[in-house]
Amino acid sequence: TTPLAELIASIAVDIPDFPEPGVVFRDLTPVFADASAFRQVAEALAGSVLEDPRGAALRTGPDDPGFDVVVGVEARGFLLAAAVAVVAGTGVVPVRKAGKLPRSTVSADYTLEYGTATLELHTDSITPGQRVLVVDDVLATGGTLEAAIGLVERVGGVVTSVSVVIELPALGGRQRVAPHTVHALWTT
Ligand code: PRP
Ligand code: HPA
Repeated sequence: TTPLAELIASIAVDIPDFPEPGVVFRDLTPVFADASAFRQVAEALAGSVLEDPRGAALRTGPDDPGFDVVVGVEARGFLLAAAVAVVAGTGVVPVRKAGKLPRSTVSADYTLEYGTATLELHTDSITPGQRVLVVDDVLATGGTLEAAIGLVERVGGVVTSVSVVIELPALGGRQRVAPHTVHALWTT
C-alpha cells in the first residue's frame, strides 16, 4: 500500500446496497472534492504511464508524459481525465454513453456490475498512432474499460496505459482488460 492509497481509503465512503441490493458502492466524490487529494490523484494517474512498459518504451524524452491524449469515460472518468490532461499538458477526449456525441462515432455495447449500456467515441477524435492514456474512477467488472479500450483501438489509437483510482479485484476486471495492464492507485 502507498501513502496515496491510504489517503484515498481515508476519504472515500462505502455505501452498502447502492445502486441496488448487494453492491457496496465506493463513493469517490469526497476525494474529488479534496483539493490536495484530487491533485495527487491526477498526478499519480498521469505518472502511472511511466511505470507501464509500453508507456515507458514509447516515451520520447524526459519532458514527454508518455501519452498524447487522455481518454475519459462518462461521467466520473471525465473529472479525472480533464485533470490528468491539464497536469500532463495534453488534450482530453470523451468516451460517452450512446447518443451524446454529434458527429460520426464508433460504438460498443458492454455490461457492467449493475446493467448494460453502449459507449461511443468520435471516429476522428484520435489520430492513428496517437498514444492514449485511458482513465476511469473504478475498475469493477472491467466491462467499461474493455469497451473504451476497444473503441480507442478501432480508431487507430495506441493505448499506452490504463489507469484507475480504485480497483475492486473481486470482480475480475483486471483479467477482462488483459493483455492491457491496469494501474490502480488503490486496490480494495
Ligand atoms: C461506473 C464507473 C466505471 C464503471 C466500472 O460507471 O464510473 O466507469 O462503472 O464498472 P465496470 O468495471 O463493471 O464496467 P457508470 O457506468 O456507473 O457511470 P457514471 O460514471 O456515469 O456514473
Ligand atoms: N463504486 C463506484 N463505482 C462503481 C462501483 C463501485 O463499487 N462499481 C461499479 N462502479
